[in-house]
Amino acid sequence: MVRRMKAKDVPAVAQIEKECFSQPWSEHSLMRYADDKDSIFCVCEIDGVIVGYAGMYYVYPEGDITNVAIREEYRGNGYAKALLEHMISVSKEHGVTEFTLEVRISNTKAARLYEKLGFKNEGIRKNFYDNPREDAVIMWKHCT
Ligand SMILES: CC(C)(COP(=O)(O)OP(=O)(O)OC[C@H]1O[C@@H](n2cnc3c(N)ncnc32)[C@H](O)[C@@H]1OP(=O)(O)O)[C@@H](O)C(=O)NCCC(=O)NCCS
Repeated sequence: MVRRMKAKDVPAVAQIEKECFSQPWSEHSLMRYADDKDSIFCVCEIDGVIVGYAGMYYVYPEGDITNVAIREEYRGNGYAKALLEHMISVSKEHGVTEFTLEVRISNTKAARLYEKLGFKNEGIRKNFYDNPREDAVIMWKHCT
């Protein structure tokens, strides 16, 4: 089940960040997006367990997807796709028509996920990531 991230979900989401990223967002950083109106952060909850989450900022009419992560043992079940489809659908109702994100050039799994959702490569940001230093592919999905 995909639903909005609430303050009570933030410790579990911060743990997923630690497990999945070399520069994880802290609980403090995540807390300001719980029930926030200028962004949409959602969790995927299965049998009472937060198995993943995703986040997007609104810069109307654009939505910038900032985070997507699923706990390793729950991957390959369509949860990331369900999270992003839900967020894109809700965002469209709020007037967002263009969606963008950056992905590490080596992260082919994530890039396939985004392509499946209709995102296309539109450029490279050199040395966008640290730890390790790596270029980002910039992807966009245009819904107008
Ligand atoms: C990328 C990630 C979010 C995918 O989550 P997931 O729940 O396993 O993905 P889904 O099951 O929803 O898969 C949806 C699509 O993504 C692609 N995909 C997902 N896992 C893949 C894999 N191991 N290899 C190739 N493609 C893959 C496929 O196109 C898949 O569709 P399909 O199953 O119909 O072929 C997950 O691997 C993850 O959390 N990785 C670590 C964090 C990360 O890299 N986040 C992205 C930062 S930009």
